[in-house]
Amino acid sequence: MLKFLRTHLALKLFLSYVVVVMVGVLVLFTATRLSGPAAFDRHLAQMSAMMSEMGMMGSSQPLEMDLFTNYTAAVSEAVSLAAIAALSAAVLASFFVSRQVVTPIQRMMKLSHRIAEGEYEERLTIPGSSHADQVDELDQLALSFNQMAEKLEKTENLRRQLIGDVTHELRTPLTAVKGYLEGLMDGVLTAEPETYQQIHTEINRLQRLVNDLQELSQVESGAFQLEFKTISPSIIMETIQKNFANQFVEKNLQLEMEIEPDLPQIMVDKDRIIQVLSNLVGNALHYTPDGGSVLIKVHRDKSNLLFSVSDTGIGISAEQLPNIFNRFYRTDKSRARASGGSGIGLTIAKALVKAHQGRIWATSDGEGKGSTFSFLIPIQE
Ligand SMILES: Nc1ncnc2c1ncn2[C@@H]1O[C@H](COP(=O)(O)OP(=O)(O)O)[C@@H](O)[C@H]1O
Ligand SMILES: [Mg+2]
Repeated sequence: MLKFLRTHLALKLFLSYVVVVMVGVLVLFTATRLSGPAAFDRHLAQMSAMMSEMGMMGSSQPLEMDLFTNYTAAVSEAVSLAAIAALSAAVLASFFVSRQVVTPIQRMMKLSHRIAEGEYEERLTIPGSSHADQVDELDQLALSFNQMAEKLEKTENLRRQLIGDVTHELRTPLTAVKGYLEGLMDGVLTAEPETYQQIHTEINRLQRLVNDLQELSQVESGAFQLEFKTISPSIIMETIQKNFANQFVEKNLQLEMEIEPDLPQIMVDKDRIIQVLSNLVGNALHYTPDGGSVLIKVHRDKSNLLFSVSDTGIGISAEQLPNIFNRFYRTDKSRARASGGSGIGLTIAKALVKAHQGRIWATSDGEGKGSTFSFLIPIQE
């Protein structure tokens, strides 16, 4: 019985209400008992004084006794009846009130069990308003509960999608390598340097993918440390120029730089910002056909520093533009070119810029019309 009580909130609440009611009734009884005779005497004394003034009374002693006994009986009867009625009403009310409190908690409990079993779709219904400031604490709890369920559902969906994407991305180069090896074994392919070169390319792609994935998981989970240092933007630009100069010459692309004079220094993780810019410049290099040009600019934009990379390359259609920062996303054009990119570079860039409290976006006038990638880094002054 005690254990049952300990494990049932509704019963506990109910019993606590009943105890409160009992105490009330007890106090009512005792108070009536204690104050009753004195009050009776006082009122009676007033009455007899009035009567004797009017000369109506002889000895009133026995009558008083009789009156008192009857008065006590009447009061007891009335108070008992009232107490029974109040008690029944209170017990009934406590029953409903405790149920009212416990039912939503029970619902939350059931839902939490379901979530633990991997069913994330269900939500609690919250009567009345769904605004956190217009509901009581229990409803707020339910509201938070729903938010938690939603987050969990999203994370779970992302996880599923990620596993699907990774599997797909790994399968393509693996199948290719396997194909080459089987060709070699069956004698369909001859053991020429070209064949080995192709296998090597596919394995490189696998390796790049695995590295990218590792980087992505670190960046997305926030499990990386930024080493903030003050640095002049021109140093970043010089590094980029140095790293990419050769590749631009090789591909016969023009690389131009535009640095606004007297730019303030910024507090950033230099290597990470160079990584972001390298991703953008690398893409521009990749997605711009020979003979084109790429312009890297940095200038001040209110309280931010604005970096931008514009190219005269294959461009991005308006429908695809919103997706390019999603992981594994590649436009059809870039897929057709078999670029070998994994579609993770921009996702990493976005996470890194966000870690610097910045913002990154892309614009393009459409396919074949080039694109511009820009990002803002706030200047701390
Ligand atoms: N400068 C660019 N011009 C045209 N398309 C681009 C450019 N940069 C990125 N994209 C598109 O965005 C996609 C995602 O880029 P990214 O995340 O760097 O992946 P990856 O370069 O590995 O394909 C690319 O596959 C490409 O379709
Ligand atoms: Mg890329």
